[in-house]
Amino acid sequence: MITGDGSPTLLHPTHGEPCHDTRGAWAEANQLHVFGCDLPRRLLRGERVRLLEVGAAPGWNIAATIAYAVGLPGELEVTAVERSAEALEAGAMLSANSSWHGGAPNGSAAALERAHVGLAMAAEAPGSDWVKLSARGRLRLYQGEAKDLLRELDESERFDAVFLDSFSPGVEPEVWEPGFLYELGMRIAPGGRLTTYTISHPVRAAFMASGLTVGWPGPRSGRRGGTWACRGGWVPPLAGRLQARLERHRDRLCSSGLGRRLRVN
Ligand SMILES: C[S@@+](CC[C@H](N)C(=O)[O-])C[C@H]1O[C@@H](n2cnc3c(N)ncnc32)[C@H](O)[C@@H]1O
Repeated sequence: MITGDGSPTLLHPTHGEPCHDTRGAWAEANQLHVFGCDLPRRLLRGERVRLLEVGAAPGWNIAATIAYAVGLPGELEVTAVERSAEALEAGAMLSANSSWHGGAPNGSAAALERAHVGLAMAAEAPGSDWVKLSARGRLRLYQGEAKDLLRELDESERFDAVFLDSFSPGVEPEVWEPGFLYELGMRIAPGGRLTTYTISHPVRAAFMASGLTVGWPGPRSGRRGGTWACRGGWVPPLAGRLQARLERHRDRLCSSGLGRRLRVN
C-alpha cells in the first residue's frame, strides 16, 4: 500500500498489520528513528555509529539511515536482526517495482536500493560477516530471533543507536517481553539512544529499569509519537506525573527480579 507521504509499505500477509505508519512510512523512518537516534549529527561529526535494528525488513529505516550516512564523514556499522526471509525478499521486490522515488533530500530511492542490496548480500554471507554498504558503511544481518542475537553477541558489545521496530505485541509479542527489553536497553552505549513507535508504559518502564532515560518526541503524523530513550544525554522529557507513574512501574519490575539482570529466556 501507499502511505500518506507517498512512500510504499507492506502489510503482513497473515495478521495484516502494516510495516510502517500509514500516514508516512518514509517520514516515520526519518523523524522517529534516524533523527530520534541523532544519527545525522553524529555522522556529520565524523563519529563511528554502531546501529542495531530489531525487525529490519523491509528495510526502510536502514535506507533512511544510509541516505544520511553517504557523503558524511562518520562511519556506520549496522547490525540488523530479522527472522522473516519472506519479509526481506518482499522488501527488495517492493522497492524494485515501485515508482516511488522519495522526497528525502539525499536520494531515498538510491538509498533503498543500497539497503536492499546490502541486506541481500548479508543474507548470503556466512555467519554474521560484514558486507559493504558504502565507503564508510557496513552491515551484518542476523537471520533469526532477536533474543537469540542478544545471547550470541559478545557480552561487551554495545550500540550507539537501536531501532526497535517489530510488529505490535498483540501479533508478535517476543520483543516486547520485559526481560528482552531490559537486555536490549543494557546494550546501549553511554550517550546512545533507542527509538520505537510505541508509547506503552510497560515497555518504557523496562527501559527505565535498564538505566535509560525515557522521553517523548511529541506527536507525529497524527500518531501519539513513540518513545526515545537514551543512556546519558537528553531526550524531550515526559510529563512529571507520567514520569512518576513509570518510575513506580520500573520499581515493581526491579523488585520482581528484572534489575538483577535476568537473561532473556
Ligand atoms: C514493522 S516490520 C519492520 C520494518 C522495518 N524496520 C523497516 O524499516 O522497514 C517488523 C519486522 O520485525 C520482524 N520481527 C518481529 N519479531 C521479531 C523477532 N522476535 N526477531 C526478529 N525479527 C522480528 C518481522 O519479521 C518484520 O519483518
